[in-house]
Amino acid sequence: MGKVIAIDGPSGAGKSTISRLIAGKLGFQFLDTGALYRATALHLRRKAIEPESHDIEILAALNGVTINFKNGRVFLNGEDVSEEIRTTEAGHYASVFSAKKAVRDFLLQIQRDAAIENDIVAEGRDMTTVVFPSAWKKFFLDASEEGRARRRYLQLKEKGMEITMDEALRDVQERDKRDSSRDLAPLKRADDAIYIDTTDLNLEEVLKKVLEAIGN
Ligand code: DC
Repeated sequence: MGKVIAIDGPSGAGKSTISRLIAGKLGFQFLDTGALYRATALHLRRKAIEPESHDIEILAALNGVTINFKNGRVFLNGEDVSEEIRTTEAGHYASVFSAKKAVRDFLLQIQRDAAIENDIVAEGRDMTTVVFPSAWKKFFLDASEEGRARRRYLQLKEKGMEITMDEALRDVQERDKRDSSRDLAPLKRADDAIYIDTTDLNLEEVLKKVLEAIGN
């Protein structure tokens, strides 16, 4: 088992950017678990599975499905879905399907397997609490709702997607409410996670705080 740096927090707190940078700096692999949930939800929707569908039906639809990362790209059954999973709609369905037990069970082992032979930086909603409770280092990244909406807005704009600030705000509000209030593995701050509010910090400042806490 490799070393795990586990990072949780709500959407738009800057988890992916920071995790990718830390992984690069320390020579760890980066595990974007949101991408796993997004790709899984995309697959289920393509199979016409509804969020209300029974777990047995969902498990059957996920049988044999593969999700891989290669050179920063995400592959669903060998198909590059990196762009398709980044829309607000894909995020919405990832959040909805992530509340299902069959989906969480399907992804649990995939996530833990990623750390068997590699040191990893894993980011998501339940890295510090459920997937890697004994992680080497744990962080909870947070930011104000407006700050997170602004980040989400700029990220999607940069990708050429049509979105307004209002829509970005609604997206983070709606998803965070659902992700924090679900029964299974809800987003919450682990007692032993280091809390960082990134609202008024730039990237270098957040990176410095995380690296200091890691002892670098
Ligand atoms: O981090 P993200 O925005 O790409 O995640 C998309 C959705 O996936 C998020 O709204 C909830 C779900 N998710 C989860 O339930 N657990 C994780 N570890 C990561 C993501």
